[in-house]
Amino acid sequence: MTRHFLRDDDLSPAEQREVLDLAARLKADRHCVRPLEGPRGVAVIFDKPTLRTQLSFSVGIAELGGHPMIVDGNLAQVGTRESIHDVAKVLGRQVSAIVWRTFAQKSLAEMAEHSGVPVVNALTDDFHPCQILADLLTVTEHKGSVAGLKVAYVGDAANNMAHSYLLGFATAGANIVVAGPESYQPNPQILEDAQRIAAQTGGSATASTDAVVAVSDADVVITDTWVSMGQEGEKAERQGETNPFRSFAVTADLMAHAKADAIVMHCLPAYRGYEIAADVIDGPQSVVWDEAENRLHAQKALLAFLLERS
Ligand code: NVA
Repeated sequence: MTRHFLRDDDLSPAEQREVLDLAARLKADRHCVRPLEGPRGVAVIFDKPTLRTQLSFSVGIAELGGHPMIVDGNLAQVGTRESIHDVAKVLGRQVSAIVWRTFAQKSLAEMAEHSGVPVVNALTDDFHPCQILADLLTVTEHKGSVAGLKVAYVGDAANNMAHSYLLGFATAGANIVVAGPESYQPNPQILEDAQRIAAQTGGSATASTDAVVAVSDADVVITDTWVSMGQEGEKAERQGETNPFRSFAVTADLMAHAKADAIVMHCLPAYRGYEIAADVIDGPQSVVWDEAENRLHAQKALLAFLLERS
């Protein structure tokens, strides 16, 4: 059976631990596993902008012994110039895995259905599960473990990051709370999925409209841009003076409600003065550079895991 990573709960709790353990080993010894030796090719397709993801997959695939092939979505036009079905068939004959950043989650599912090789979600409108693996590794490094911690995500609680934090951190047994304005709450189905997972892992998953309640006594405080890729047309209402996210900004005042030793995370790109204050992201509680580095180690471990199981 071909294994894919389309959303965070495609890994069971035990599998997620296995990937994170391998990520830690790969961080200590970057070449200890080379499943793509050959080199075997991996297609990495971008329909949205990228910096960290292109870099970390390119470096990571090369370090696994493979050859990264970056595909510009504007040239390939997957799903418009050519059907997803046909692209999946063609790629599946030539590469060992497909990594795709695109808009609709269902496009990714269609690619996985027809490719015959592992498909990895490198961000869709609904999820960003590779970032969550990096974040889980980062929390483990700073806090020893993830299970039982209070993790608060504040800001746009309806976006891909909020959904992935719900699923990924529930899988890890954390108490994850996502907080945002009334009209930017998570997809109820995804919240329910996270709650079902949390019931098995001993964690919890909740949504809130109160940033202070969410952050109170938190071990980890997280935010993300208020204007995700694809939402540029809503910039004025999302970042303007009277935007609905203002009380969810991660400032020193908000951080005063978290535990004194809480860490702060942000997947980047960050907009200082909007979702996070400069003195917080650049301050001593911030672990954002560790997070950015850990994309590399976590994704290498994920690819190695998927290739071994497929
Ligand atoms: N929510 C953001 C995450 C960027 C890594 C976006 O989709 O643009």
